[in-house]
Amino acid sequence: MNRYGHSTPLLHFCLFFFLLCSVVFSELPTNQKTTMISLSKAIMNNTALIWDVNKDPCSWKGVKCSTPGNSSIAEISLSGVFPSSDFLPLLCQIDSLVSLDLSNNDLTSIPDKFITDCGAIGGLQLLNISRNSVGGPLPTFHGFVGLKFLDLSFNSLSGSISLQFEGLVALKSLNLSFNRFNGLIPTNLGKAMALEQLQLSNNSFEGGIPDQLIDYLNLTLVDLSQNNLSGPVPVRIGDLSKLEVLILSTNYLSGKIPETLSSIKSLSRFAAHQNNFEGRIPSGLTKFLKKLDLSYNKLTGSIPSDMFLPSNLQTLDLSYNLLTGSMPSNISQSMVRLRLGSNSLDGTIPFATFGALENLMYLELENNSLTGSVPPDLGSCRNLMLLNLAGNKLNGALPVQLGGLSQLQVMKIQSNKLVGEIPVEITRLQRLWILDMSWNSLNGSIPSTISSLQGLMILNLQGNNLSGSIPETIVSMDSLLELQLGGNQLIGKIPGMPVKLQIALNLSSNLLEGPIPESLKLLTGLEVLDLSNNKLSGEMPPYLTQMATLRKLLLSNNQLSGIIPEFNPWLTFDAKGNKDLINATTSKASPNTSPNTSPKSAQKGKSLNLSFLDESVASALGIGYVVGIVIGIAISRNWVVQLKSKLNI
Ligand SMILES: *[C@@H]1O[C@H](CO)[C@@H](O)[C@H](O)[C@H]1NC(C)=O
Ligand SMILES: *[C@@H]1O[C@H](CO)[C@@H](O)[C@H](O)[C@H]1NC(C)=O
Ligand SMILES: *[C@@H]1O[C@H](CO)[C@@H](O)[C@H](O)[C@H]1NC(C)=O
Ligand SMILES: *[C@@H]1O[C@H](CO)[C@@H](O)[C@H](O)[C@H]1NC(C)=O
Ligand SMILES: *[C@@H]1O[C@H](CO)[C@@H](O)[C@H](O)[C@H]1NC(C)=O
Ligand SMILES: *[C@@H]1O[C@H](CO)[C@@H](O)[C@H](O)[C@H]1NC(C)=O
Ligand SMILES: *[C@@H]1O[C@H](CO)[C@@H](O)[C@H](O)[C@H]1NC(C)=O
Ligand SMILES: *[C@@H]1O[C@H](CO)[C@@H](O)[C@H](O)[C@H]1NC(C)=O
Ligand SMILES: *[C@@H]1O[C@H](CO)[C@@H](O)[C@H](O)[C@H]1NC(C)=O
Ligand SMILES: *[C@@H]1O[C@H](CO)[C@@H](O)[C@H](O)[C@H]1NC(C)=O
Ligand SMILES: *[C@@H]1O[C@H](CO)[C@@H](O)[C@H](O)[C@H]1NC(C)=O
Ligand SMILES: *[C@@H]1O[C@H](CO)[C@@H](O)[C@H](O)[C@H]1NC(C)=O
Repeated sequence: MNRYGHSTPLLHFCLFFFLLCSVVFSELPTNQKTTMISLSKAIMNNTALIWDVNKDPCSWKGVKCSTPGNSSIAEISLSGVFPSSDFLPLLCQIDSLVSLDLSNNDLTSIPDKFITDCGAIGGLQLLNISRNSVGGPLPTFHGFVGLKFLDLSFNSLSGSISLQFEGLVALKSLNLSFNRFNGLIPTNLGKAMALEQLQLSNNSFEGGIPDQLIDYLNLTLVDLSQNNLSGPVPVRIGDLSKLEVLILSTNYLSGKIPETLSSIKSLSRFAAHQNNFEGRIPSGLTKFLKKLDLSYNKLTGSIPSDMFLPSNLQTLDLSYNLLTGSMPSNISQSMVRLRLGSNSLDGTIPFATFGALENLMYLELENNSLTGSVPPDLGSCRNLMLLNLAGNKLNGALPVQLGGLSQLQVMKIQSNKLVGEIPVEITRLQRLWILDMSWNSLNGSIPSTISSLQGLMILNLQGNNLSGSIPETIVSMDSLLELQLGGNQLIGKIPGMPVKLQIALNLSSNLLEGPIPESLKLLTGLEVLDLSNNKLSGEMPPYLTQMATLRKLLLSNNQLSGIIPEFNPWLTFDAKGNKDLINATTSKASPNTSPNTSPKSAQKGKSLNLSFLDESVASALGIGYVVGIVIGIAISRNWVVQLKSKLNI
């Protein structure tokens, strides 16, 4: 009320001198204005923040005043302005503060004076010190009787927690994630038991999930992931009847998934992946859930038959468990992502019984023992982006209906027992960027329309029984980075290849003949070239020694002739089994001209690849050149790793 006492006369004054007022005066009490001006000096001294002291502090960036009337400062945000900590005591003089955001700065400690002074501000509801560098043990929060939201996440706080938060009677949301706390999960989190959100992820908490935590009956969010917790989940967890999100992932928790979880009507997300949970999945668990992740545990038994059925369920991940039996045959229309890979599931893929799943985007059933054929009805899951059926025992021919998956980006059906020809319909999948059909028994020829897959980056057809010649059209696949056609029955000459090929070109173990074509010279980024086990003839073209990024060249078991040129030392080279090929190093062997030190061969490489540089500069850069290539290879490998991790493959 004091604040309004101050502001009322000012308001009258302003009615008369309206213009002057709006520029120079605010309705703030003078003590707050003075404090704000001191604060602006202390803060602006070492940040880029501009607070114009000639303007009303209520208009300063990051400052909000109370409504109605702007009669006091209510919120200050100094997020990401990197002030020194000198200003902290000043802040606490603004006794009307409701919200104080100090996140994203460089604070290294919370001074005692800050705790005592700001702790005395009864109306302070939110304190955000997230993303600073505060280390050491936790201070005890005395006062702060109105504090509802406390965010200390992403700091370096350590030690164990006992009674430091006990006095926070209004506390609703506590975030301690991404610190270095250890000891047991704290259970004294505000005497009034008002806590609703508790985030403790990524610390070193150990021991079990304490039963006392379940006394906070208003909890809606509990995140205990990425700690060192062990033991079972308390059965009483089912008493948390307002729980919406429960995350227990990446701990050492064990025992069964408690059945009582299925009684929490509000629970929409439960994640417990990467623990040691065992036993059967309780039935009814998905009755209310939208998202469930139980992957990377030791769950056994079969998947409850009603598990995929509830219409609320959108994403389900049970991969990397020990589940057996067959897939339940009824799947909710609302399912977006279904992952059952790396279990021991058998039986058929039951899709034929219920047709299109319009919302399904990710279907991952790889590394199981599924049998039968790929169901044609899968082709009506029009929004499917990722289909991974690899590593099963699927047989029969690929259904032409798969050509209807117009959104499909990744198709992995390798390592099955698929037969018949590659349906040309597959070449309609314009969004594909990975197509892996390797290690099946597909026959017939590679359709020439494959080149219409203009976004395809990885094409793997190796280990099949494909015959005929490699289509000439393949040269126009401008996005292709990896082409694996090894282990088939392909005949004819090697046609022109897409120039962007980088990861590998593998044509090994086929029946290819003719020379190694001149056109391969254009593949200037290629790292692996495998032409072994064919019937290639003629001499080794000299450009092979100049392919700067090549680190593996395999030409063994062909009918090549002539002299093996000298290669750069980092190249893995194999040309065994070409009886007319002569090893130049053996024939003119001399200790001074070993391939590793030959200045001639090194210079050849340079003059080609650094032709824009002066010869002498190029030779001065000799070492840098080698390093450059090694980095180049590392980058592209890294790229593939990223690509694969993006897709969880
Ligand atoms: C500004 O910073 C300098 C160096 O950090 C310090 O010596 C000076 O007292 C500061 N001035 C104010 C007004 O805080
Ligand atoms: C309060 O201050 C803000 C920022 O200067 C201004 O936009 C708003 O109009 C003021 N409100 C009142 C009621 O004076
Ligand atoms: C604290 O600030 C961070 C970063 O600015 C933000 O992401 C977070 O939501 C804030 N916490 C609370 C409780 O508002
Ligand atoms: C900390 O947790 C609270 C409550 O869940 C949340 O509102 C806040 O955004 C989190 N802070 C950060 C930095 O994510
Ligand atoms: C729990 O929430 C309800 C409804 O918001 C509220 O009335 C009650 O006071 C809360 N319980 C505690 C212990 O804060
Ligand atoms: C915490 O997160 C970091 C970075 O994300 C990760 O390296 C670390 O393993 C996590 N800690 C735990 C205990 O999981
Ligand atoms: C977590 O527990 C494991 C064994 O249970 C132990 O090896 C590891 O050091 C612990 N990590 C931390 C950060 O306490
Ligand atoms: C699955 O669907 C079939 C046919 O629509 C139906 O007969 C069966 O009762 C369903 N199963 C469950 C568990 O709902
Ligand atoms: C296949 O699944 C088993 C468990 O069933 C797992 O141990 C193995 O690592 C998985 N293999 C791959 C390649 O993911
Ligand atoms: C490949 O096809 C040939 C001839 O059509 C056949 O004899 C052979 O068994 C097939 N191999 C495989 C692995 O399917
Ligand atoms: C492909 O294999 C099937 C049997 O799996 C056979 O009927 C068909 O004739 C074969 N096609 C070719 C072109 O070899
Ligand atoms: C050529 O002979 C030398 C010396 O015997 C040997 O070290 C080298 O590996 C051979 N090169 C090839 C490509 O076989």
